[in-house]
Amino acid sequence: MTPADVTYLGETPAHDAEIEAINEEAFGPGRFARAAYRIREGGPHERALSFVATHGGAVIASVRLTRIAAGEGRALLLGPLAVRPAFKNVGIGRKLVRIALEAAAKAGAPAVLLVGDEPYYGPLGFGKIPRGQISMPRPVDLDRLLAVEIVPGAVALLDGEVCHADLARVPATV
Ligand SMILES: CC(C)(COP(=O)(O)OP(=O)(O)OC[C@H]1O[C@@H](n2cnc3c(N)ncnc32)[C@H](O)[C@@H]1OP(=O)(O)O)[C@@H](O)C(=O)NCCC(=O)NCCS
Repeated sequence: MTPADVTYLGETPAHDAEIEAINEEAFGPGRFARAAYRIREGGPHERALSFVATHGGAVIASVRLTRIAAGEGRALLLGPLAVRPAFKNVGIGRKLVRIALEAAAKAGAPAVLLVGDEPYYGPLGFGKIPRGQISMPRPVDLDRLLAVEIVPGAVALLDGEVCHADLARVPATV
């Protein structure tokens, strides 16, 4: 397999079953208990900002973005990101993150947040969110709360518990 054999595509509903299998393989049944999963239960992910890598017509990796809110702040939550074991360590995960970040910026997203390992995501532009600024609906290691700011000041606006953007309180209009 060479990098040229891998194709990156926008996610479609036809990819759903294969993506589910990849996430099951990568995270197991424990994925349903994760904080990020809990947030994603609040509403749909952004299909137009989610991507797959394919090889020989099969999905071998996936990344999704979901709109989230925390206080007045708005952002996209990146994840799950997963790569089939046989295709790890050839740059597919990093490429998918870069594609997703580019799409997020093009779509005008203020920031992208995730729960993950700083050594992996740091070189991709993610930095730690100051401890105590935001919380998640389930316990997480606060050192793993990372964000990339697209619009200056967007990360500072994130405040309090993170939820799916569809569940954010809409300010009263009267
Ligand atoms: C993490 C994951 C997405 C990386 O995808 P990948 O395509 O294998 O990664 P890439 O090829 O882009 O990058 C590989 C590099 O990242 C490093 N790396 C992988 N996981 C890492 C981690 N958790 N922390 C630090 N570095 C990591 C590898 O050692 C490798 O380093 P090298 O380039 O110096 O050799 C993939 O291993 C995976 O699906 N893991 C299981 C699910 C998971 O943990 N997802 C992330 C949730 S936050």
